[in-house]
Amino acid sequence: MQLVETIAHVRELRRQFSGSVGLVPTMGYLHEGHLALVRQARNENSTVVVSIFVNPAQFGPSEDLASYPRDLERDLKLLDEQKTDVVFMPSDEEMYPLGFSSWVDVEKVTERLEEASRPGFFRGVATVVAKLFNIVQPTKAYFGQKDAQQAIVIKRMVADLNMDLEIIVVPTVRENDGLAMSSRNVYLNSEERQAATILLKALTLAKELWQGGEKDAEKIRYQMTSLIQKEPLAQIDYVSIADADTLEELKVVDGPALASLAVRIGKARLIDNMPLG
Ligand code: PAJ
Repeated sequence: MQLVETIAHVRELRRQFSGSVGLVPTMGYLHEGHLALVRQARNENSTVVVSIFVNPAQFGPSEDLASYPRDLERDLKLLDEQKTDVVFMPSDEEMYPLGFSSWVDVEKVTERLEEASRPGFFRGVATVVAKLFNIVQPTKAYFGQKDAQQAIVIKRMVADLNMDLEIIVVPTVRENDGLAMSSRNVYLNSEERQAATILLKALTLAKELWQGGEKDAEKIRYQMTSLIQKEPLAQIDYVSIADADTLEELKVVDGPALASLAVRIGKARLIDNMPLG
């Protein structure tokens, strides 16, 4: 496994790779969710590149950039076990040198859900991911269903800007009690950790209602909201039943939809989702 810190070095290696290259972009502090992406990339490509970069451009001024959890030594051990070929771990200056002024703005689908609480978040994500695609030139890139809106934004960008690669979305990996794995789960104390199971419970309720024939999206949102409100430690950011492609809020669920939510518990802001159909 090669550890690479500069763009020039990645380019030099890239010229030597033959066959397909799978890229897994991450911000490190890896867990089984990240590793599921790496495993699938390993199964499907001759070369696997994983990037570890805590991207300052996607953090708001009051967000957790400085305290974002990091453990590079452990990450590298886990990636080595998955037979990763290259770990790209650039510095902030390597990615955003002095004078940096070009941004990727994906419209419409970014105006909903996460954007309300995290203005500028998707601009930061789309920009860094576009840069990683240009640097690594992967055949396929892997993203988690856990961050459903992010995956939709990246697919939109790839289609709109004619980027020549395939985006693969990997199912959400969960803890035994159903909590979606996330690097930010370390912010939860044991009481909050217990309360966090409310997210999957609310999503499961949405799925059950929908499977039972409920088509009125507002009724599903209302039931989910009522359930979450029974958990005193949980504070709802949003509860959404939206079109699975455009993420527009639905009145009637009559095609593929996505139930999704963001909930604050203690210091953590947790997101999760469940496809309906
Ligand atoms: P990060 O939060 O480190 O996540 C990296 C990738 O792992 C994302 O595609 C995310 O959706 C996926 N992932 C996280 N938890 C998962 C889980 N429980 N199951 C399945 N996949 C999971 O997302 C980012 O970093 C950044 O925004 C990034 C795309 C790297 C751009 O900076």
